[in-house]
Amino acid sequence: METEKISFASILQNPIYKDRDVLFAQQPPTGFLHRTKQRNELVMELAPILMKSAVSCVFVYGNPGTGKTALMLDLIQELKSEAQKQGIDLKTAYVNCSENRTETSILLSVLAQINPETEYPKMGWNRAKTLDEFGKVLGKKEISVLIMLDEVDYALRESGDDVLYRLARINDNVKASVSTVIISNDVRVSDYIKPRTQSAFGRVKVIFSPYNAEELSDIIRERVKFALKKDVMSEAVIRKIAEIEANRGGDARKALELVDACAKIAVGKRKDKISLDLVESADRSVEENSVLNLVSSLPKHQKLVYYAVLKNEKAGLEIDGVEVYKKYLELCTSYNAEPVTERRVRTFLVNLDELGLISTEVGWLKNLKKKSRKITINLDKALRAKAEKMLRNSI
Ligand SMILES: Nc1ncnc2c1ncn2[C@@H]1O[C@H](COP(=O)(O)OP(=O)(O)O)[C@@H](O)[C@H]1O
Ligand SMILES: [Mg+2]
Repeated sequence: METEKISFASILQNPIYKDRDVLFAQQPPTGFLHRTKQRNELVMELAPILMKSAVSCVFVYGNPGTGKTALMLDLIQELKSEAQKQGIDLKTAYVNCSENRTETSILLSVLAQINPETEYPKMGWNRAKTLDEFGKVLGKKEISVLIMLDEVDYALRESGDDVLYRLARINDNVKASVSTVIISNDVRVSDYIKPRTQSAFGRVKVIFSPYNAEELSDIIRERVKFALKKDVMSEAVIRKIAEIEANRGGDARKALELVDACAKIAVGKRKDKISLDLVESADRSVEENSVLNLVSSLPKHQKLVYYAVLKNEKAGLEIDGVEVYKKYLELCTSYNAEPVTERRVRTFLVNLDELGLISTEVGWLKNLKKKSRKITINLDKALRAKAEKMLRNSI
């Protein structure tokens, strides 16, 4: 039998998806399920900030995909709006430490967020200058500051626990009242923290346990209501996906990705329902996603260059090779890597093009008066988000 042709129009009219983006949205459509206990614990711990006192470090940890980042960011929004009502000047900073792995780049990122009036460079400042500025900004104002260090395990492994030690003791030295929350995917994170730092912290720990099949079913069911058309995914299919992922570590993100993979295959096969037998082939297709495998097998500096390309894109505009190199240098600083020359980076770009990850063309950029390499990215939005995450975590 000849393979049927698929047209864009037929995909747009698909009977499966209602709103695919809901599957990848960081905030769940109707709030977090099965996290009330963790949420309450965090509210109790963070509440003193609304009484203008500092919270000694709160530790949040759990496996990937257990809702740590999404729930924390949601809580911070709530805390900020409550602070505003109470007339408290609360500044918050969120730093992803897989992207900022040195004390200097972490503190610079915090500074840029709590003191937006000043423009801080992403590179070129050494540790002493950064610490000096940090002390100055926090020293002069009586503000409340909440710092969140996400995926802190990367910074700890790469550059030790100095930054935590400093933050744990900061309130002895400044006028501002500084609270810190650290989030880790690695449950053995304590192994990287020296006793002197451990004892300077409060020992508050909030644990995000992996989801079981029951919980994952609820999480999937809720998203499917918004993401897929009515009756496309049966309870039996939801259950099966939940069981597969519960056995692998209870990761809600992966469960939602598997939902998407099922839906995609159903669209390709022109089905109007997702049958139970589709789940297994969808599961294999996630494992075999060739683009992600390709990206994960790149050498470190090619990963950094590819990440620089992804981070440089402004919707719809072409990217300029010179800008990519600038971004690459910034990334090297925050990832604590020794940069290679611009010439090497150009050969990496050619390689990424040959692999089909980007398209490049040497020519005239619309808004520049010189010749440059124009770059476009060949990934859809969902795949791109996955590639970025994978890059951050594997560099
Ligand atoms: N309890 C939950 N209810 C609904 N969605 C959830 C829940 N926990 C996690 N998710 C979803 O799973 C994805 C991964 O969550 P995230 O907070 O990034 O995990 P982590 O930071 O622990 O790796 C997000 O899309 C998030 O909305
Ligand atoms: Mg996270």
